[in-house]
Amino acid sequence: MTVPRIAQLLFHRSIFLLLLLIIQSAACLSREEDTISAGVVIKDPQTIASQNQIYKLGFFTPPNTTNRYLGIFFAFSQETVVWVANRYTPLKDSSGAVTLSRDGNLVILDGTNRTVWSTNLTTTSPVVNPVAQILDTGNLGMTLSMNVKTGKRVLLTAWKNATDPGIGSFTGGLDVVSGTPQLVNWNEGRPYWRSGQWNGLIFLGIKLMFYAYLEGFNVVKNDSAGNFVYTTPQINGFVTLTLNSSGSVTRKEWNGVEKRWDVVVTYPENECDVYGKCGPFGSCNALESPICTCMRGFEPANEDEWGRGNWSNGCRRRSQLRCGDDGFERLRYMKVPDFAQPLPSGVQDECRTRCLGNCSCIAYAYDSYIGCMFWSNTLIDTQEFGSVGVDLYVRLSASEFGSHKGRKLYIIIPVTVSFACICIIIFIARWLMVKRRGDKVKDTGIVEAGQMFTTDSTAIVLRNEAKEVNIGELPKFTFEMLAKATKRFHEDNLLGRGGFGPVYKGILANGKEIAVKRLSAESGQGMQEFMNEVIVISKLQHRNLVKLLGGCVEKEEKILIYEYMPNKSLDACLFGSTNPTKKLLDWNMRYSIIEGIGRGILYLHRDSRLRIIHRDLKPSNVLLDQDWNPKISDFGMARIFGGNEDHGSTARVVGTYGYMAPEYGMEGRFSEKSDVYSFGVLILEIIKGKKNTRYFNDELSLSLIGCAWKMWSEGNGLSFVEEGIASRETEEEMVRCIQIGLLCVQESPNDRPVIQTVLSMLSGEIVELLPLPKQPVFAENGSTRGPNGSTQQNVYSNNEHTLSMLDGS
Ligand SMILES: *[C@@H]1O[C@H](CO)[C@@H](O)[C@H](O)[C@H]1NC(C)=O
Ligand SMILES: *[C@@H]1O[C@H](CO)[C@@H](O)[C@H](O)[C@H]1NC(C)=O
Ligand SMILES: *[C@@H]1O[C@H](CO)[C@@H](O)[C@H](O)[C@H]1NC(C)=O
Ligand SMILES: *[C@@H]1O[C@H](CO)[C@@H](O)[C@H](O)[C@H]1NC(C)=O
Ligand SMILES: *[C@@H]1O[C@H](CO)[C@@H](O)[C@H](O)[C@H]1NC(C)=O
Ligand SMILES: *[C@@H]1O[C@H](CO)[C@@H](O)[C@H](O)[C@H]1NC(C)=O
Ligand SMILES: *[C@@H]1O[C@H](CO)[C@@H](O)[C@H](O)[C@H]1NC(C)=O
Ligand SMILES: *[C@@H]1O[C@H](CO)[C@@H](O)[C@H](O)[C@H]1NC(C)=O
Repeated sequence: MTVPRIAQLLFHRSIFLLLLLIIQSAACLSREEDTISAGVVIKDPQTIASQNQIYKLGFFTPPNTTNRYLGIFFAFSQETVVWVANRYTPLKDSSGAVTLSRDGNLVILDGTNRTVWSTNLTTTSPVVNPVAQILDTGNLGMTLSMNVKTGKRVLLTAWKNATDPGIGSFTGGLDVVSGTPQLVNWNEGRPYWRSGQWNGLIFLGIKLMFYAYLEGFNVVKNDSAGNFVYTTPQINGFVTLTLNSSGSVTRKEWNGVEKRWDVVVTYPENECDVYGKCGPFGSCNALESPICTCMRGFEPANEDEWGRGNWSNGCRRRSQLRCGDDGFERLRYMKVPDFAQPLPSGVQDECRTRCLGNCSCIAYAYDSYIGCMFWSNTLIDTQEFGSVGVDLYVRLSASEFGSHKGRKLYIIIPVTVSFACICIIIFIARWLMVKRRGDKVKDTGIVEAGQMFTTDSTAIVLRNEAKEVNIGELPKFTFEMLAKATKRFHEDNLLGRGGFGPVYKGILANGKEIAVKRLSAESGQGMQEFMNEVIVISKLQHRNLVKLLGGCVEKEEKILIYEYMPNKSLDACLFGSTNPTKKLLDWNMRYSIIEGIGRGILYLHRDSRLRIIHRDLKPSNVLLDQDWNPKISDFGMARIFGGNEDHGSTARVVGTYGYMAPEYGMEGRFSEKSDVYSFGVLILEIIKGKKNTRYFNDELSLSLIGCAWKMWSEGNGLSFVEEGIASRETEEEMVRCIQIGLLCVQESPNDRPVIQTVLSMLSGEIVELLPLPKQPVFAENGSTRGPNGSTQQNVYSNNEHTLSMLDGS
């Protein structure tokens, strides 16, 4: 953890925690330990700490040197320095001291009482008894910002290297071009990396940042001040943004359990992220080799250099534009070039017309939040993402298209023919399936629709998406490799059953542990769920979602490979009666699991590109990694929503009894709020340590939710908490969690809070305002369960979800 850093932004519950030197009169009383008064000398290695012991001011030594610098660092992670005073005038030994001079300046003295550094403040009026104080909270001036009127920026500046905190060659901050802000790293003034245009929700050029907004990063515009400000996440913990001496920006979160910083993300991520890698009119694709190609209609400006892998000269146009008689080539899923000129009010068709009508326009794109974007002059720093991104339309001379007219015919014919073949194959397959299922019906009495894709809108989304999902993009594993890793899918390696098939533990030849989910032949909706899972999860990345490592599609075999979770599922940990790990789940752990699940759901719901309703949140779908971080899994049932949609309905109710919101279970209506309901049930289960569908309080004749309601509403919430973890010290937090759980399981979706609100409530940001939950519907009569605890499945079940989705408790 000795990454070089000069400046970092630090956030704690949205408040910037930075040093504030307050030059104030002594009338203000301050606590001794967080202040320096005039004349008092703090000698190395003494320090002063902020009131809540978050920051310390004192001398430190960077690695591989004996120099001493005065700085501010985290009290709990002292090598994480956030500010350096004497960056150019280090002390050679530990005889230094810091003091506050009579005129209110912070001064560093060496062993001979010589001033080596001073804040050099000059005040017009004399200062009486000045005091310097280090604060826990405070200084909003340290946001990254740019003032468009004055051009003034607040930037991050990198250290020279790990041992030398002098100002290095990289700086980073907000850059506002034609009104659209981007984050940019400069290397001695030249752009080195850019985030792409901010569209109000995300940065268009960060492939995996389609959750930026919900993670709390935001760019706020202040018209009156002419300011754009990059704001930071509201999470319960510490986040740092570090620019290191080789130009990488890294976001880290403090892991209080392991006492270390976890890297969340680093930019640039790969070679293609380096600004202008492929030169003007070149396009970079990190998955191709070579990574650079010229856009269609362009050729390398310098063939020799290009062939040698020196792409910086870029490409030039093959045939010149003739203005009136041009066409557009569509490049899909792009990081669009730098220097976009936006037209906020534009609609998509208008972009094309406008660009065509202006001879200096050489490309356009459309983003539903920004509107039209136009380019003149050049197209630089363009990247092909392959799955997310914006379509870029590049203007080409009509002659570029003319030569292809003949060719098109030849393409169309084979395509039509093979399309017909595919239709026939599907038809046969379906016919066989119907036939097979028809036989099943006799046995089970279940009426099966027998369709690969049902008629509800899921199917439409799926069919559209299926064309776009490229399983080939996932890292490939061979079947042989997986068979070997799982001892030929041996029973002993069986971890459990996911939505569409069994999951095995595997160990690859290199010793890496993996989880292998194999589509089983008997799984009715299996293929659909498999596709759904690939579509959804291959586009997502978040620390609270399970990670897909790759896939294998060989003949009949369809297999997905995930990271292995040594601590199994929440289900096993919480409810496994003989499970020795159960006692490990103390309250703090449970609380952080609840919070982690919430953050995973937030990511799904608030994603600006893909808004996802999971539809099957339950403990067995929450996995735990070695650090007990929860990871949501199993997206076979998830529904993707387009931009403006926010709810759907389905004739095919899938999900798990006990976790389905009433409006979904009974009427098939689902929305973000139905996931919130499931989350509410999860919260209560985690607190109680009992499964909703298995719990029945005989004494009170109440279900789990009913029980929570009764005890909470009688002011006796603590008695709902699982025995052994209930404690007076954490009572307030526990009772708050119960209340939040109850708010989530309210009958009317409108009464339930959205997931952001749930998280704010959990983190304690909303304390006074916590609303009172309404009494749950089934509170009195013990839900829909028989008194002996047997589940009456027919209440919520319907034809299909009894097949595989029921949680076999
Ligand atoms: C310190 O020096 C050692 C040995 O030369 C080297 O391995 C290590 O990477 C250096 N650490 C830093 C932070 O530069
Ligand atoms: C530095 O100043 C302090 C207090 O003003 C004094 O006690 C100390 O002897 C001085 N040290 C030297 C080396 O002059
Ligand atoms: C304070 O002024 C001195 C003398 O002009 C200069 O050497 C030093 O760099 C200044 N310190 C800061 C922090 O600007
Ligand atoms: C760090 O930079 C300084 C010069 O600024 C140089 O003397 C020193 O060798 C560098 N250290 C490392 C570890 O690169
Ligand atoms: C915008 O900036 C002005 C001047 O700095 C400030 O007074 C105002 O509160 C800011 N508005 C917002 C919404 O931040
Ligand atoms: C800066 O961070 C990147 C990404 O974490 C890393 O690869 C690189 O080595 C770091 N540079 C230095 C000088 O530590
Ligand atoms: C790439 O080509 C340009 C122009 O021909 C040249 O100036 C530059 O030095 C070359 N870069 C490399 C790394 O060879
Ligand atoms: C044409 O586009 C250029 C560059 O985008 C712009 O400066 C100019 O105003 C446009 N002309 C018209 C007539 O819209």
